[in-house]
Amino acid sequence: MRITRLSLHGFRNYADATIVFSDSISVLVGDNAQGKTNLLEAVVFLSTGRSHRVSDEQHCIRQGQTSAIIQAHTENASPLDLKVVLHDQGKSLFLQNQLVRKSSDFIGKLNAVLFSPGDLELFEASPRSRRRFLDTEIGKINPVYVDALSKANRFLKDRNASLKAPVVDEVMVEVLTERLVEVSVDVIRLRSAFTQRLNAHLTSYYQALALSESVIGITYNGVTNFDPQTADRLRELYRKNRDRDRFLKSTSVGIHRDDLTFILDGHPVDEWASQGQRRLIVIALKCALVAVIEEITGEKPILLLDDVFSELDASRRKALFTTLHRNTQTLISTTDLHHVSDWLHDSVTVYTVTDGHVEERNRL
Ligand SMILES: Nc1ncnc2c1ncn2[C@@H]1O[C@H](COP(=O)(O)OP(=O)(O)OP(=O)(O)O)[C@@H](O)[C@H]1O
Ligand SMILES: [Mg+2]
Repeated sequence: MRITRLSLHGFRNYADATIVFSDSISVLVGDNAQGKTNLLEAVVFLSTGRSHRVSDEQHCIRQGQTSAIIQAHTENASPLDLKVVLHDQGKSLFLQNQLVRKSSDFIGKLNAVLFSPGDLELFEASPRSRRRFLDTEIGKINPVYVDALSKANRFLKDRNASLKAPVVDEVMVEVLTERLVEVSVDVIRLRSAFTQRLNAHLTSYYQALALSESVIGITYNGVTNFDPQTADRLRELYRKNRDRDRFLKSTSVGIHRDDLTFILDGHPVDEWASQGQRRLIVIALKCALVAVIEEITGEKPILLLDDVFSELDASRRKALFTTLHRNTQTLISTTDLHHVSDWLHDSVTVYTVTDGHVEERNRL
């Protein structure tokens, strides 16, 4: 999948800009605060219907204006016209110039994978952020997961509410526990399969990027493994925690406590890896995601790499270039053209971003 044309009107610091993308790798060069991340954020909007940076999307409307329009034309198996309009009433999504009623009919039509410097928190932040990573990424490619997860969240909420009641309705708790077990099995199956798929690609990308022999793995620390006995083990866990749950008035075990551990050569990444290594692990993770999404959907997503070069030495920057697939549309932002000096003779298009204006640089 590739975006051929992107237009921004009244979005962030863009008054009116149209960018025509031609090559597989596009480098956005500009000083700080010129609009590089804003441009990538616009592509994220088209992919997920949301911003990856703010929850209040009114901030994305250009100061002094009342609406913002992000529009793109894509080339893929079936060409798409996508449009996001932000206005004072909220947001409207359009697909093929038709207003989309359910956002799930819009999300993922354009599949994009983003590396953002904030992703480095994945190793240190709470398990919640790693679960969010799983939920977002699996959700983008599998509607069954979205459905199972939303049911699980609902049953969990109802179960907790029942446990908090002055008189606990035991029959209700049992019914909700059984429902929770049934949908949790699907969530565990898909989280486990997704982690395995990522693991199949992660080390080879890491070795290519880091120029090293190190082995990277992700361990899925789920409430239990996935196998034919998963449901029985879950029932047993809820039974064992029966008194504890009643005492705490909440559900102490379940998929809402799942976590991931990133392991570098047998050591947890958060205790072992350097800054540069962490960055490379996250980039390798994003490359692995591109491969997994292609395996599942049959189409390559667009890769967005925001401020990817900081902390990378010259040989790793070169390794990144060699590792990127020429047939994956990739947008990379950088403040320094020197970071890509080795790339300029290749099929790379450089765009300069200055105060909300984007211009294709003439080839050197
Ligand atoms: N709603 C808005 N209206 C007008 N300008 C905005 C709006 N939101 C953000 N901006 C401006 O956009 C600029 C930030 O753009 P962006 O984050 O894309 O920078 P960048 O080029 O990625 O910089 P860096 O290299 O520092 O990451 C800021 O100067 C900010 O003032
Ligand atoms: Mg930026």
